[in-house]
Amino acid sequence: MGAVKSRAHFYILHESIHLADTPFPKTFAPLGPLTGRIRVPGDKSISHRALMFGALAIGKTTVRGLLEGEDVMATGRAMTQMGASISKGGEGEYRVHGVGVGGLLQPQGALDMGNSGTSTRLLMGLVATHAITATFTGDASLSKRPMGRVIDPLSLMGASFEASPGGTMPLMVRGATTAVPIEYRLPVASAQVKSAVLLAGLDTPGITRVIEPVATRDHSERMLKGFGAELDVEEVDGERIISIRGEADFTPQDITVPGDPSSAAFFIVAALLTEGSDLVIENVGLNPTRAGLIEVLRQMGGSIEELDKREVGGEPVADLRVRHSALNGIEVDPPLAPSMIDEFPVLFVAASLASGTTTTSGLDELRVKESDRLAVMAAALTAAGARIEEREDGLVIEGTGGDPLRGTANGRVKTHLDHRIAMAMAVAGLASKDGVEVDDTAPIRTSFPNFEKLLEEATA
Ligand code: S3P
Repeated sequence: MGAVKSRAHFYILHESIHLADTPFPKTFAPLGPLTGRIRVPGDKSISHRALMFGALAIGKTTVRGLLEGEDVMATGRAMTQMGASISKGGEGEYRVHGVGVGGLLQPQGALDMGNSGTSTRLLMGLVATHAITATFTGDASLSKRPMGRVIDPLSLMGASFEASPGGTMPLMVRGATTAVPIEYRLPVASAQVKSAVLLAGLDTPGITRVIEPVATRDHSERMLKGFGAELDVEEVDGERIISIRGEADFTPQDITVPGDPSSAAFFIVAALLTEGSDLVIENVGLNPTRAGLIEVLRQMGGSIEELDKREVGGEPVADLRVRHSALNGIEVDPPLAPSMIDEFPVLFVAASLASGTTTTSGLDELRVKESDRLAVMAAALTAAGARIEEREDGLVIEGTGGDPLRGTANGRVKTHLDHRIAMAMAVAGLASKDGVEVDDTAPIRTSFPNFEKLLEEATA
């Protein structure tokens, strides 16, 4: 986003500045033990929601620790296109002046979502019950991802859509003039779909209900309540039933965003795999709907200690002390998948160096992330010398028993515009003999702009 100086040291964010689509190849090779203390950037999911909900509250919302990655900036830009004013102070410090629930304005021009599925699906929900029309565009990766999963429930609420073939982007949403509340059982375990329906419910009279057979991350529910929405969560027969009353009035908030456990994941695995490592990662969000990787790595024998447990911004947080550990292969319990859905690429790396076999299953959703993460990780790890069997819904990995991977002396691994593939394979490179050459590190900017700098710091 561009910026124009406003009052004091805050800068008003306005239009987009596009970084050139030049790929940045890089080889990652062993750097030695990870030690000292580091702090990963703010949680991506929470950062998106802080900007969106602040943009719906009349008055000043302050956000600290916002993730300044391209995905979150895409959300910020879209909210300004629809009438909010967002200004930046110091690093990660933002002020949002919102338009009120129901007050979003007709955007001029398309909403460019870049690589961000979360921005797209949640904003489709918001637009769906405002009397406005918006066109959503995105990069080559996002343009392949399925949007039918949000188009279906939002159509039931009265919105209409014109999508590209197969329910993909670019697409146009025409918001309902009189929205109708629905009760919707999620056909896929997806926090984005859940959130899209709940956000559509904000500007809908009556009660909108989402039934989750399998719990997914609950940041929307927590933060919606914080802004003053009337939202109830019940557990019935193992299912979560979330009800939101529409036509809510939002009260502006002061939000502090905890560190992103999905970003910490790369450093956790790097420290576990590298001999001599003893690393503290400060301020990591440990919401139980996000903490599956830590549980799985502990089951594999990883030493991960939680220090100074506390609450930040209504979310549980701790400093994590991670020490090099010998890992053992396991069968990953499929119900844990939603609580570590973004962490599988780096778990596959950990499994590639464990002793014995790791089996994962029930991971069909990984095929529709920023890339097909089962196929892409299987190809990349195989190229780096790991032993991988790709199945329909998971990978089976024969670990090296702690020996380094061969690396990719004879070629680059393909990341397919997927930030988490790039970072996972960077970690694989740290645990290899010859290094791993990643074809493009540019996508890392979407979620973790200072990844390489932190890696240098932790290994200095
Ligand atoms: C997210 C939900 C997950 C996750 C994504 C962020 C969110 O997607 O993979 O990175 O912020 O709600 P799904 O809802 O598609 O599982």
